[in-house]
Amino acid sequence: MPGAVPNPLRDARDRRLPRVAGPCVLVMFGVTGDLARGKLLPAIYDLASRGLLPPGFGLVGFARRDWEDQDFAAVAHDAVRRHARTPFREDVWAQLSEGIRFVSGELDDDEAFDQLAATVRDLDAKRGTGGNYAFYLSLPPALFPTVIGQIKRSGLAESSGDAWRRVVVEKPFGHDLQSARELNAKVDEVFPPESVFRIDHYLGKETVQNIMALRFANTLFEPIWNRGYVDHVQITMAEDIGVGGRAGYYDGIGAARDVLQNHLLQLLALVAMEEPVSFTSDAIRAEKEKVLSAVTLPADLSTATARGQYTEGWQGGAPVRGYAQEDGISPDSTTETYAAARLTVDTRRWGGVPFYLRTGKRLGRRVTEVGLLFHRAPHAFFPTSDVAQLGANALVLRIQPDEGVTLRFGSKVPGAAMEVRDVSMDFTYGRSFNEDSPEAYERLILDVLVGDPPLFPGQREVDLSWQILDPIERHWAESGAPEPYAPGGWGPRSGHELLEREGRSWRRP
Ligand code: BG6
Repeated sequence: MPGAVPNPLRDARDRRLPRVAGPCVLVMFGVTGDLARGKLLPAIYDLASRGLLPPGFGLVGFARRDWEDQDFAAVAHDAVRRHARTPFREDVWAQLSEGIRFVSGELDDDEAFDQLAATVRDLDAKRGTGGNYAFYLSLPPALFPTVIGQIKRSGLAESSGDAWRRVVVEKPFGHDLQSARELNAKVDEVFPPESVFRIDHYLGKETVQNIMALRFANTLFEPIWNRGYVDHVQITMAEDIGVGGRAGYYDGIGAARDVLQNHLLQLLALVAMEEPVSFTSDAIRAEKEKVLSAVTLPADLSTATARGQYTEGWQGGAPVRGYAQEDGISPDSTTETYAAARLTVDTRRWGGVPFYLRTGKRLGRRVTEVGLLFHRAPHAFFPTSDVAQLGANALVLRIQPDEGVTLRFGSKVPGAAMEVRDVSMDFTYGRSFNEDSPEAYERLILDVLVGDPPLFPGQREVDLSWQILDPIERHWAESGAPEPYAPGGWGPRSGHELLEREGRSWRRP
């Protein structure tokens, strides 16, 4: 059939066309939370202002508050004004706000869900949303089964003809392997696997997507991307903020479940995976799954992991409270706010190369980066004194906030002596591209509405990630309280010892 012959020119043109969502309703649970106000509602506006939402778009909020439609619209307006990335435009807002509705109720209240179903159907008829509904669960995972059950009971999960149903769940998906599996079984009862979108917002970040572009669209890096050249890999996600108003969510969860299980292991998977056969979700997931299945933990978890909790102290010239003194946190809480681990990926490419992962709140500054540190040159040619200051060659993927890539290598210092010193070559998004990067949530919400899953982890990845974390959590549960660390620094002593024991040290971001 002639139409089936691949045509690279036509495909290239097609890819340049903007991806615009078709008519649909987005139903959001948890609209009064920080995530909805700070990220989700602004992202929806930004999509609208970039012309990527259709005129027939509806947004329905569901929460306990005793609000009318206009109260929710006012909250959304305020969130957009404060946090949207693109400039505020009255015409965009006017069009969007016409499709805003609110339903007040408890998650276990049948009547409220019947009301929700009626509201969605009415909006569908008025705005012409084509009977397509996405449900965004911006809620703690323990509430998913109730909501999913209600969506089914109220008939909202049923569709006819070409109309679609999609459900979006936020991480962490479960709190260990068993609970993740149980949750998944509940979701599975109502939604087929291809309709479930698990959000890990790191995968929506431009710089994280660029890991695949850097590796697989170039020839330069792949030949050295292996144990023959790479000594070790460091993945850092540091935050300068404390737990703030999120005590209810964070306490008992901790840094490892909050971000190591998802964001950091996803970064590891993207760095360590083989080239997928295509940019489809199945092909990408298959490669990430192979990496996660090959991750092993050292036998002695007391030297291969570290955890800490920030104490009171000073940060940025201001006094800050310790974690245990934050509002809503019990003074004897043993929840960690810093977590680090040394993992290996037992594949031919990576055998014996340590991957050091760390994350923490109230650290020196907000920075996320992936560093590949290369083996040192033998330097037989230069006297050791001339290269004493030389670090290892490094390729650093700067995920945020100063997005880009740095290559560090040694160079001769101008002058009569043969002195060699570290220099770096930088690629910075801001200098190379005129356009600002979209926020991760803009990309991911659009992908949900378009039905494009490559940037969403599959359930097996989630399971494998818990399989990695569960033994660490069990070990920590038996080993007393986390080590205290002062705010504004780089975490507890044990986090540094993780590398120092092996003659290495963390990069200073
Ligand atoms: C979230 C975590 O997933 O990521 C938060 O739950 C963390 O604890 C946040 O603060 C950080 O996201 P970003 O995009 O600011 O790095």
